[in-house]
Amino acid sequence: MRYNAAEQGYVSEKLTMLIVTDIESLRERLRAWRRPGTRIALVPTMGNLHAGHTSLIEHARASAERVVVSIFVNPMQFDRPEDLAAYPRTLEEDRCRLRDIDPDVVFIPAAETVYPRGMDGVTRVEVPHLSSIIEGASRPGHFIGVATVVAKLFNMVQPDVAIFGEKDYQQLLVIRRLVTDLDLPIDIVGLPTVREPDGLALSSRNRNLSPTERAQAPGLYAELRRFADRIHSGELDYASLEEQMMHNLKKCRFRPDYVSVRRAGDLAVPDGSDRELVILAAAWLGRTRLIDNVRLTLMNDR
Ligand code: PAJ
Repeated sequence: MRYNAAEQGYVSEKLTMLIVTDIESLRERLRAWRRPGTRIALVPTMGNLHAGHTSLIEHARASAERVVVSIFVNPMQFDRPEDLAAYPRTLEEDRCRLRDIDPDVVFIPAAETVYPRGMDGVTRVEVPHLSSIIEGASRPGHFIGVATVVAKLFNMVQPDVAIFGEKDYQQLLVIRRLVTDLDLPIDIVGLPTVREPDGLALSSRNRNLSPTERAQAPGLYAELRRFADRIHSGELDYASLEEQMMHNLKKCRFRPDYVSVRRAGDLAVPDGSDRELVILAAAWLGRTRLIDNVRLTLMNDR
């Protein structure tokens, strides 16, 4: 890594990946690239990068001429201070991982850069209703923090396309709605969840699991799949299926927050005619909170 005055940032020796920490350098770099035919993709992350994140960045690399990855552990979206303090920060490892994919810019702002006046009394972005149900009901204020920081990143980078994971399904819908409601000219792409061979969704929080909890953790996805199979095989009493899955999770030593089957497009409670569904679940294992979901499409002949 060496400082390059012309590029106003640190340039990796091997490739061209530029690391910037301030908004003006980011904008200046992007200004030089912004022209017809050059698509700019943004992949927002909180770091501690794993194969789920890199799948998004690789997709960005394949679908846009310029790729910006942001790494920012956003304090506004943490509802519990201990969760923010415990969030893994692994910048050196992240840089090594990114070097292999070679995004054009990695934007790593400090909290004072994103929130120069602090967070109290600052303008916030709220997507009503979608932000306060399910995950939002368990974590009040979380999606306001997500929507606010993502809107700020969108304004800093002004990307043509931004890429998110379906792992955080409700987050993806919140961001889609934000972009629609605020008329932002950005394509939002959602990509499938990357999993361990045993089904556990990759997550920065998995590293906090003890060996015993790690062995139990795939139970969350296994129960979601069982739930989906039962709907596929004709069971229609969703409330009873939700209750049974809560019960099964408890038997597997989880402390479930919620299990909820919803309409995939807008997270409304489905009626019998809805065909595109998503089952969302969050559950604690010890001190680690896991979230996951499965999508399902029902055939018309049911
Ligand atoms: P973070 O948890 O770092 O996730 C960054 C992106 O990676 C999100 O779009 C998330 O859905 C996606 N992702 C996480 N695990 C994944 C997996 N196993 N497979 C595929 N994609 C996965 O989500 C956030 O950060 C923040 O809320 C953020 C959007 C950056 C705003 O602060």
